[in-house]
Amino acid sequence: MYDWIVIGSGIAGLFSALEAARHGRVLVITKGALEESNTRYAQGGIAAAVAPCDSPRLHGRDTLAAGAGLCDAPAVRALTEEAAARIADLLAYRVPFDREGAALALGREGAHAVSRVLHAGGDATGFHIERALCVALRAAGVEARERTLATELLVEDGRVAGVATLDGRGVVERLPARQVVLASGGAGQLFSSTTNPAVATGDGLALAFRAGAALRDLEFVQFHPTALALAGAPPFLISEAVRGEGGVLRNRASEPFMERYDPRADLASRDVVARAIADELAAGRGPVLLDVTHLPATTVERRFPTILAFCRRYGLDMRSEPLPVAPAAHYLMGGVATDVWGATALPGLYACGEVACTGVHGANRLASNSLLEGIVFGWRSVRHALGLAGETPAPTIPSRRLYLSPRLPGRAGIPTRADVQRLLWEKVGLRREAGPLAEALRQLEAWQGALASPSTLAEHELANLLLVGRLMAAAALERRESRGAHFRSDFPAPDERWLCRLEFCQH
Ligand code: FAD
Ligand code: SIN
Repeated sequence: MYDWIVIGSGIAGLFSALEAARHGRVLVITKGALEESNTRYAQGGIAAAVAPCDSPRLHGRDTLAAGAGLCDAPAVRALTEEAAARIADLLAYRVPFDREGAALALGREGAHAVSRVLHAGGDATGFHIERALCVALRAAGVEARERTLATELLVEDGRVAGVATLDGRGVVERLPARQVVLASGGAGQLFSSTTNPAVATGDGLALAFRAGAALRDLEFVQFHPTALALAGAPPFLISEAVRGEGGVLRNRASEPFMERYDPRADLASRDVVARAIADELAAGRGPVLLDVTHLPATTVERRFPTILAFCRRYGLDMRSEPLPVAPAAHYLMGGVATDVWGATALPGLYACGEVACTGVHGANRLASNSLLEGIVFGWRSVRHALGLAGETPAPTIPSRRLYLSPRLPGRAGIPTRADVQRLLWEKVGLRREAGPLAEALRQLEAWQGALASPSTLAEHELANLLLVGRLMAAAALERRESRGAHFRSDFPAPDERWLCRLEFCQH
């Protein structure tokens, strides 16, 4: 019997496992290699009000503004007020954040009022965090099972009591635990163009939903404005920090077009920039190019060594030529509904990191708040499980319950992952509308009905993608307004009547 089983080995899983290991026996389960995660690819950095000119209040104000009315204020307070303490923990784990002299170097990103983004190795923040936490986990002797997929949350007497797993040799096991921490990351693999690695298939969302937990805010998907858009290359992220350093978006006529869309120009919030780029492309003013050729070459080399090296592999040198970019699915604001301590409605189950919906992001996440959320709420989950949590304020945003109709056996063929991705990209993407959303929902229902019980890793992932895709399409169809990252061409303005979260539950 484990005291804790942690599912996932990104920042949220590793950080909570390290914290939990001070108090009991911990097992980390992860479906790839220990280091494989979204975390590993994070570029821009981690936001925290550590500068003398900054404060948690100011950080909170920017977070709330980006969230477009749907952030939960107590959760935002926890995020911003505890940021500095958790950064101190990362420093103690020897994360080598970049410095300017003795002080931590701070970068600027879109919709932040001040420079407050800590980074490491220039644009290799996630790599350095992941590496330091893996080293610490191994040094602490925490047990980890790699290439092991969590396939089910075991529920006994209304309480999560363990995890069923499938390993790389096809062995199925049922592992009992007093608490389970779900830290399995997001679902970028729902879309054909994404910055996320192949492991991001929304498994944790599907597991939690099947076990009886509630999921909310699933209609809010963040599309990053600037992924590399080059034939033959994957949609590799070109960090927002590039614009933070002075990079400028230009259209085919070399016009710095963002000024036409928003007074904040290139540093407007992500949804605004992503839709502006999509509009330029749709109007035939593409390709859209991200230009840093006016910056000193040494700045580009020091701040963006990973991006520079990646692009050079494809024959592009950003020091002397602009980079073609386009939006790509990047981050899921919604997730497993938790309180401010990471506790879900199912006793024994915690959720933290991208899989969770703590309420800090609302309808749109502020850049570099995700790594921070992983450590703040990972830490809080362990405190709660130990009975050391403080008060649990009521959420400030009301929820509306939705239910999914039971799945019906159908006659559709079995889709590939690419089929699902194309459907979501085309009909549940950056711009949404009732007709295409309803079509997507019908197709996903038909595909889901055609699936047999999964037995291989690929079959489990496909079943999870279909379930999460279906919930996402249903939520996007239901929300008849535009807010934050959710844009409906048929309801292009925000509507006060929708100042609520949409929450799915089985029961
Ligand atoms: P992840 O890091 O995604 O880890 C999830 C883990 O769960 C993985 O180890 C995965 O293998 C495992 N897993 C999944 N399903 C299962 C299963 N069924 N069984 C077992 N294991 C499973 N955010 C920022 O704040 N700043 C940034 O600069 C930044 N840059 C980014 C750049 C890129 C390219 C990407 C893709 C994201 C970026 N983000 C950034 C977002 C941020 O990286 C992620 O939201 C964050 O790392 C999520 O951490 P996590 O621990 O919740 O999940
Ligand atoms: C980026 O570097 O642009 C990604 C930052 C984030 O997703 O927060």
